[in-house]
Amino acid sequence: MSDLSAKAKASPNIAFIKYWGDRDPDLRIPANSSISMNLADLFTITSVAFQADLKADHLILNTRTISGTGLARVRKFLDRVRSMAGIDWFARVNSENNFPIGAGIASSASAFASLALAASSAAGLELSEAQLSSLARTGSGSACRSLPGGFVEWQAGDDHYSSYAFSIAPPEHWDLVDCIAIVSQVSKSIGSTEGHALAKTSPLQNSRLEDTPRRLEICRQAILNRDFEALAYICELDSNMMHAVMMTSSPPLLYWQPGTVEIMQAVQTWRKEGLPVFYTIDAGPNVHVLCQASFTEKITQKLEQIPGISKVLTSHPGGPAQLLAS
Ligand code: PMV
Repeated sequence: MSDLSAKAKASPNIAFIKYWGDRDPDLRIPANSSISMNLADLFTITSVAFQADLKADHLILNTRTISGTGLARVRKFLDRVRSMAGIDWFARVNSENNFPIGAGIASSASAFASLALAASSAAGLELSEAQLSSLARTGSGSACRSLPGGFVEWQAGDDHYSSYAFSIAPPEHWDLVDCIAIVSQVSKSIGSTEGHALAKTSPLQNSRLEDTPRRLEICRQAILNRDFEALAYICELDSNMMHAVMMTSSPPLLYWQPGTVEIMQAVQTWRKEGLPVFYTIDAGPNVHVLCQASFTEKITQKLEQIPGISKVLTSHPGGPAQLLAS
């Protein structure tokens, strides 16, 4: 036996109720629970081969060899898998996204979800969905929400085992479409790992956390009842609350650009005009504009008319991470 290998596919997810701030930054135990939707049309495929003759871990990302902090983060993750499986072989990891690299779409969720599934399977571990979700969380918090399918809740929990995500509705439950308006392709100067550490410096973070159970419940019910109006209200509120925390941290984080605000205002105008649509924004300038599938073309056309928007990507709800034949 000189090769233990596996390949897996996972999608990124868009958070409706956001995760911002960690209770345990090393294990990425979040300060609050969150809810998201997987994005079927975007995905990462990762293959992992633990090999007896390797002298170090190797990482290739979208055909480029990665070293430095990117490799160190993956090595730390592989160390966890090796210690769980009782093996000491190094690995070759090859990861590819079907969405454009540098498009400003966070790929760490799909990257670590596919890595968790491929690496654990290559190492011979048989993990439940919850165990895989907890494992993926240690690579990137939001990655734990990309293991289960469809509409997903991540219960914050209070230790490694109790902090994992589970599906609250399958992808077929509601055909929502995420129209992702790319405002900027420049990678952000403060990534989410650093951003989470700053959350507690904002005087608004505690109020945001205290109110989270209420927002989670409204969001859960809106999804279960396919109540678009309620979902629109709670998602925009939650995104604005997270960005208020970001902007009032020390040092402050302002991810928005003029194009970001232009889309936020346009979406509110379209809604007043009767179009069912809402926005939500992660740790970057790009805007996720959500609608029901039948409005996709109309919304995409409207977004493309806004000057400065270089591209609009669209995605329907996605299924769970899955193993592929390697
Ligand atoms: O998983 P991370 O560390 O990339 O954090 C994700 C943070 C947000 O995208 C801003 C919110 C979320 O819940 O996805």
